[in-house]
Amino acid sequence: MIDIHTHILPNIDDGSKSLQISLDTLSLMVEKGVKEVVLTPHYLSGAYDNSPQIINSAFIEFEKEVKRKKIDIILHKGTEVFLNNYVFHDDLIYKFAIDKTKFILVETNMQEIPDNIFTHLYNIAKNDYQPILAHPERYQDIIRNPNLALDFIHRNVLLQINAGSLLGMYGKRIKETAWELLNRGYAHFLASDNHCQNMEYVLPIAIEVIKENIDSYTSKLLTEINPAKIFSGEKIEFFYLSADSNYKKRSFFAKINDYFRKK
Ligand SMILES: [Fe+2]
Repeated sequence: MIDIHTHILPNIDDGSKSLQISLDTLSLMVEKGVKEVVLTPHYLSGAYDNSPQIINSAFIEFEKEVKRKKIDIILHKGTEVFLNNYVFHDDLIYKFAIDKTKFILVETNMQEIPDNIFTHLYNIAKNDYQPILAHPERYQDIIRNPNLALDFIHRNVLLQINAGSLLGMYGKRIKETAWELLNRGYAHFLASDNHCQNMEYVLPIAIEVIKENIDSYTSKLLTEINPAKIFSGEKIEFFYLSADSNYKKRSFFAKINDYFRKK
């Protein structure tokens, strides 16, 4: 497993509140089979003012501690960037890319996706960077209309679903939306978005549930194959073979909607 979205870097955002909690969390992840983890503290101007320099020095310090404790996991430096006009000033956003790659984990307003979101995403893609939208299933607009996720994919945006969403940790509607996106093949990564709130690590649990409900190919694609491609530079497919195993359970109106969408 490679977990590409976590808030384990200590004392920097609403994630881990201490070095010890972070080290314990990493040890637990190693025990559960995680080989690599991307540390993605929030960047949101005015709320989480974690400049690339701040994140860089926090990362270096933390990596030293992890090595000192001999925790057998590869750490990658990343950020979860809240998209707004500010992050495009002086090309700041590109300094938040994951390690030395062109991939950037992004989020926006979950209550209402702003009108200029596609302009922002277009600017990122135009500069030859690859946006990954964190937890699309948690956006009210996508909950109301899962087809909107397809608009993101058509604009070269990769989608990362939260493991906890599939397990119902954010409520019923988000759970249903997460499964809907997954079943339609509108998901490229599954990650924990672990905030170190407790010593539970849900990524392996979600993998088991995907294996039961879909298959092991899908769980492996989202937690091993595609995450590894971030670092190998191999192409990640925007569209791939998906099971749509829940299709029969979907409502009559949803099927009608799909019918006209495909026409
Ligand atoms: Fe996050």
